Amino acid sequence: MIIHSSTFEISAVRPSQWPTGGLPEFAFLGRSNVGKSTLLNRLLNRKSLARVSAQPGKTRQINFYQINEQFRFVDLPGYGYAAVSKKERAQFAAMIDRYLIDREPLLRIAQLVDIRHAPSKDDVEVHAGLRTLDVPLIVIATKADKIGKSQIDAHVRQIRKGLQTDVRILPVSAEKRTGLEEIWAILEADLDN
Ligand code: GTP
Ligand code: MG
Repeated sequence: MIIHSSTFEISAVRPSQWPTGGLPEFAFLGRSNVGKSTLLNRLLNRKSLARVSAQPGKTRQINFYQINEQFRFVDLPGYGYAAVSKKERAQFAAMIDRYLIDREPLLRIAQLVDIRHAPSKDDVEVHAGLRTLDVPLIVIATKADKIGKSQIDAHVRQIRKGLQTDVRILPVSAEKRTGLEEIWAILEADLDN
């Protein structure tokens, strides 16, 4: 994918702020701190279009980015961040659900999980929920640079087992820029369909 333009559009706190116009959207979902914003920046070759923070739980809105005036990336708030109040977490969850269920231009959901660990309870529940939707799914196993190359296959198998899924799982490192071409190949095929 050649990126001609990538722009931040809006940080939406309510559905009425979601962009209109129907450009196809790819949504990135995962636990807080899993690397959603970092991956988005790497895919777009931008240093800090999507805000990355050392503190987890930073992305509290649904952030929309427009690419090549052709499609959108959607950075969803991270789930499972304990330091956020219960009420606030329920509010995020409701907003994410509403987006995933109602959003007509949604072309694919990428669920990010940390390649180092077995999927969390949240990861497993979210994955099961996503599989009930009628939207293509991919799992991106992030931070692959944090384990040895020889361990990658075993970790992917562990994630597959934990999620009990046959969805494609792609190991990726935003840090080392590995796996990005594979992601683009999938997104480009979606756009061509
Ligand atoms: P929230 O917005 O809080 O939900 O987090 P997020 O999923 O957007 O995570 P973010 O991109 O902010 O990354 C969290 C931390 O992980 C940052 O310190 C990143 O530098 C680090 N990180 C992200 N991707 C990678 C990676 O591929 N390798 C390594 N080693 N670190 C990474
Ligand atoms: Mg983020």
